[in-house]
Amino acid sequence: MNLCFSSNALTLHPPKLHPFKTCYLSQPPFTAFQVNPTPFCSSQVSTLLQLTRSTTSKRVFHIRANSAPPTVDETKPCSFRERSPKDVNVLVVGSTGYIGKFVVKELVKRGFNVIAIAREQSGIRGKDSKEETLKQLRGASVWFSDVTKIDSLENSLDSIGCPIDVVVSCLASRSGGVKDSWKIDYEATKNSLVAGRKHGAAHFVLLSAICVQKPLLEFQRAKLKLEAELMREAEMDQNNFSYSIVRPTAFFKSLGGQVELVKEGKPYVMFGDGKLCACKPISEQDLASFIADCVMSEDKINQVLPIGGPGKALTPLEQGEILFGLLGREPKFLKVPIGVMDFAIGVLDFLVKFFPALEDAAEFGKIGRYYAAESMLILDPDTGEYSAEKTPSYGKDTLEEFFERVLREGMAGQELGEQTIF
Ligand SMILES: NC(=O)c1ccc[n+]([C@@H]2O[C@H](COP(=O)([O-])OP(=O)(O)OC[C@H]3O[C@@H](n4cnc5c(N)ncnc54)[C@H](OP(=O)(O)O)[C@@H]3O)[C@@H](O)[C@H]2O)c1
Repeated sequence: MNLCFSSNALTLHPPKLHPFKTCYLSQPPFTAFQVNPTPFCSSQVSTLLQLTRSTTSKRVFHIRANSAPPTVDETKPCSFRERSPKDVNVLVVGSTGYIGKFVVKELVKRGFNVIAIAREQSGIRGKDSKEETLKQLRGASVWFSDVTKIDSLENSLDSIGCPIDVVVSCLASRSGGVKDSWKIDYEATKNSLVAGRKHGAAHFVLLSAICVQKPLLEFQRAKLKLEAELMREAEMDQNNFSYSIVRPTAFFKSLGGQVELVKEGKPYVMFGDGKLCACKPISEQDLASFIADCVMSEDKINQVLPIGGPGKALTPLEQGEILFGLLGREPKFLKVPIGVMDFAIGVLDFLVKFFPALEDAAEFGKIGRYYAAESMLILDPDTGEYSAEKTPSYGKDTLEEFFERVLREGMAGQELGEQTIF
């Protein structure tokens, strides 16, 4: 049985409610599934959970407030961009991540029909239950499925029973490990492309990363491979498919790790002179808003979109100075030679030849080294120089405001996760 948990209310769907009409629907049938928003009720979910356990067949149960059949205008070819958001079905994979959660929230706020795919245990180290996930993704129709298995994902999309217009992927390996990066940043994301296309998706928005410009790490190579496949798909089916590849600079969570330590009196640690790299940090909310813009904006079609937050680019030294400024203290820095990391990576690279199990440890060392020395800004491939001026800015949230908030409220919601690298 397939069940859909909506955080507004329960929505369950009949199998093959109607055939897909991916190009000629004036009214996506998804609207027919929606029920009036009511606050999430955990007892409703437990009822559904019981239903799941007690039924072994593939039948799909449905509860609908509005049972009127969807209206289909066969005469009018439609681009989803001509419809209003309420008639556009957006599938979000990676919906439970740091950025994904904000993307779902933003899309719901803008009035889209949001279908969020999630795992039954989601979040960092799977700490969030189904009920917690439903609360976090309030306003979306949440489907518990497995993006790493194409059959599972396709079955879920079959069960949803309405065409998908746009796929937004915020999937990412939670560890950055070698195999997991290929499994998630490439394969699972590709699954969502294939399954989404099969169910009508005409546009794909990918959360990538600005650092893929200089690919030295496995997750960057995995992302680049997926980016290339999106471009190929758009090239091969120019009239029916497009993409927007979003390559953000650093997230706030990646820069906040030292705030509480410095507050406790510890020095701010940085590599070299603190000027080896720079970035234009962007908040989850601002990035989610930019990603949501990519769903409909014509000017973001088939674009690779590097994006940073507002204001000037900041080096680690400047970030530390901002922090000490907020605390009203004299800056106290601990400068670590970058050679220390090179040595550690050299040792791990040597050991991995004899102990393959150290593969991920060696990769994490390289990730740390990369972020310690490479700027998250536009890279000029000819000169090899990073340019703050050429890196576009978006949004309004500043790192200083973020630091202020963390000093006041702590890092809740900004946890780095499995490997505490990114
Ligand atoms: N950190 C930075 O400063 C920075 C800067 C630029 C770009 N980026 C890019 O942004 C991305 C990270 O975004 P984020 O921080 O929002 O990621 P995140 O919080 O780690 O979220 C990852 C998402 O992918 C899902 N996922 C991971 N493994 C899965 C699996 N095996 N099966 C099903 N779902 C799985 C997670 O689901 P669960 O909740 O179920 O685990 C979650 O929804 C990366 O691609 C990174 O390169 C990061």
